[in-house]
Amino acid sequence: MTDTPLLEACAVSLRFGGVRALNGVGFAVRRGELFSIIGPNGSGKTSMVNCISGRYTPTEGKILFDGRDVSGLSPNRRAALGIGRTFQNLALFHHMSVLDNIMIGRHHLLRSNFLTGSLYWLGARREELAHRRRVEDIIDFLDLQAVRKATAGTLSYGLRKRVELARAMALEPKLVLLDEPMAGMNLEEKEDMARTIVDLNEEFGITVIMIEHDMGVVMDISHRVMVLEFGYAIAAGLPADVLADPHVKRAYLGESDDESAEESGEQSDEQSDEQSDEQSADGDEFPSAAGAADELRARA
Ligand SMILES: Nc1ncnc2c1ncn2[C@@H]1O[C@H](COP(=O)(O)OP(=O)(O)O)[C@@H](O)[C@H]1O
Ligand SMILES: [Mg+2]
Repeated sequence: MTDTPLLEACAVSLRFGGVRALNGVGFAVRRGELFSIIGPNGSGKTSMVNCISGRYTPTEGKILFDGRDVSGLSPNRRAALGIGRTFQNLALFHHMSVLDNIMIGRHHLLRSNFLTGSLYWLGARREELAHRRRVEDIIDFLDLQAVRKATAGTLSYGLRKRVELARAMALEPKLVLLDEPMAGMNLEEKEDMARTIVDLNEEFGITVIMIEHDMGVVMDISHRVMVLEFGYAIAAGLPADVLADPHVKRAYLGESDDESAEESGEQSDEQSDEQSDEQSADGDEFPSAAGAADELRARA
């Protein structure tokens, strides 16, 4: 069973009315892999991740997790099976403390343990202590000790992104879906986050599917990369091979030819359904995509 991919997307298509967000996209992610999805804005990356998390149901095709068809399961059921995620736009409880935000990630574990575990109070108390210890481990791992009691809404953007990651980890996922974990971060925050993602992959053994615009980071830390364009998977493979692929070059260089969209600062509103007041953070998608094009040019 261990050579069954942890996650498999089988010919996934997704339509919103006339919009074809995904067209027969198929790929498999092995246990322990750090797999990245890249592509221009609107190419279907977030849609793909939403199909895996259960937020969207594919119009056609299937999602297999651990060999099991989860296409019909709710996001909560998938989370309980071990699919964790962070959002492109932050989804923290701003008025709650960092600690409470992370504890929320534990919620389904507390309930399942309550139902299946001992009802004897000493047993329950032990369970609670074990949960707290686990949360403290995550706080240590993500270097959040100094802000554990702070109200989430008061933290810097980079710190809130870390808290969101901590909450996803609290669920003890087998697979974590990271939608632009470094968007809106400065260089130092990006480096920290990249190192953290590598650590959670290597030390915690968590399989990662990451959407990221920063091509340098993607190429440095990913084991394999898939490229989407207009909802089609146009390339997939080792980072260096994908980078050398002529279709990929065209997709990126083609996009950056359209400088007018970048210069006018035109913002996409396509993610407006994601719950958040952080829309401005997406503003850097255009410069990042241009950065990817530069990276490709430099390596071409
Ligand atoms: N909830 C939705 N309703 C309608 N159209 C959507 C919705 N979500 C995404 N889309 C459309 O699907 C396409 C892919 O979007 P998305 O997956 O967000 O791309 P990416 O994450 O690569 O920027 C876009 O054309 C977008 O407008
Ligand atoms: Mg997106």
